[in-house]
Amino acid sequence: VHEATTAQLGVAYPFMASDRLGCGQVLVGGDLAGGPFAHDPFVLYGDGVLTNPNITVLGQIGRGKSALVKSYLYRQAAFGRRVAVLDPKGEYGPLARALGAEPVKLSPRGATRINPLDLPDAASGLPGGLGGAPLLGEGRRMRLSLLGALAEATMRRRPAPVERLALEIALDACGGSPTLVEVVDRLLDPDPGDARRTGLAATNLEADGRDVGLELRRLVHGDLAGMFDGTTSDWVAGERDVLVVDLSEVYHSEALPALMVCAAAWLQAVTGAAASAGAAGGTREASSAGAARDAARTLFVVDEAWAVLSEVAVGRYLRSSWKLARARGLANIAVCHRASDLTSAGAAGSEEARLAEGLLADSETVVCYAQPASELRPLAGVLGCSVEEIAYLPTLRRGVALWRVAGRRYLVDHLLSSAERPIVDTDQRM
Ligand SMILES: Nc1ncnc2c1ncn2[C@@H]1O[C@H](COP(=O)(O)OP(=O)(O)O)[C@@H](O)[C@H]1O
Ligand SMILES: [Mg+2]
Repeated sequence: VHEATTAQLGVAYPFMASDRLGCGQVLVGGDLAGGPFAHDPFVLYGDGVLTNPNITVLGQIGRGKSALVKSYLYRQAAFGRRVAVLDPKGEYGPLARALGAEPVKLSPRGATRINPLDLPDAASGLPGGLGGAPLLGEGRRMRLSLLGALAEATMRRRPAPVERLALEIALDACGGSPTLVEVVDRLLDPDPGDARRTGLAATNLEADGRDVGLELRRLVHGDLAGMFDGTTSDWVAGERDVLVVDLSEVYHSEALPALMVCAAAWLQAVTGAAASAGAAGGTREASSAGAARDAARTLFVVDEAWAVLSEVAVGRYLRSSWKLARARGLANIAVCHRASDLTSAGAAGSEEARLAEGLLADSETVVCYAQPASELRPLAGVLGCSVEEIAYLPTLRRGVALWRVAGRRYLVDHLLSSAERPIVDTDQRM
């Protein structure tokens, strides 16, 4: 007979004697070590198990990453959580409809528009939004950071200081509720008075803003017009509990990163208002706190995030919103293929690599489906374990994943109910 403490056993027999998460919701499936497995970033954060609510899902194509995310959202909605999804492949429509919402499908020359320069009420600094007031404080900063990321994603280089200034002046010249079209038109055709207000006598705004204006012009007058070039369509505007932005029409466009930035900015703006109301109640309360507060909690999903993470501008933009997750009562979920999407997004030590590593460092929950053997080394680095400890990963069957939750590891078989199968099925066309 061998005797040991439970702490020692947990180390010696990782999945057989694991420390329970003790989370009452939401059920994901079966813990292969026995018993059910449930996970909720808000409850676990409230209980002090997690210090950040973000989730990264990794796995080869067809292993069940999107199916997990869809059913997870479906189950979270039952607890009153709000759901926002950036859906590059257009596969979240059935989920949205099952939750009573129509997905927002964007396409060039389409009829539905969203304005990426919309702001959450909370960021406007004024009760009830901005109206016609000039842009101040947080709202201005959010819009400038969006425009900077868009400029960089479309020009494929960092905007020069004069270009940043031109963007800033164009934005300020557009008043309290600008649209992307107005900013671009102002960039390409500045008013002589715009530059004078900065006090910089020698500024040649028209020349300085020309390159960035011409690149951004594609989104509003060129081949990508019809999605982000105007005010938000009436049927989309207003508070909603379920928002899915479908970008499948432009999934193969080389401008996808810029388009995803626009859609992400807008989704965060419209979910941000409600989320900050939820966060105001204190972030470390017990999980039993009122349902009203929970109702404002939002899960924000970027599926196929790997497609945009190699773009520094997009990575930086996403990273900054992940950092704000706790303050805004948001849990971010990013879906990628491989750890090396993240760890080799750029040369070692480059900004790309640091951004991607940071994204992982900022997600304390990592869900890992089957990976090729060549991925084990970068993955071990991400998960903080040895290659030997995860040697079984290439052989995991569909639906089974390794969950790393704040340093603890679980092998979980994701179970689907009959009601969920039609929502998650992406095999039909095969
Ligand atoms: N836990 C599961 N049990 C049964 N079938 C599943 C499970 N997870 C995924 N599937 C099926 O596998 C297919 C591919 O899953 P999907 O989540 O779309 O893959 P990906 O990892 O590429 O996002 C889907 O049609 C889905 O119905
Ligand atoms: Mg998928």
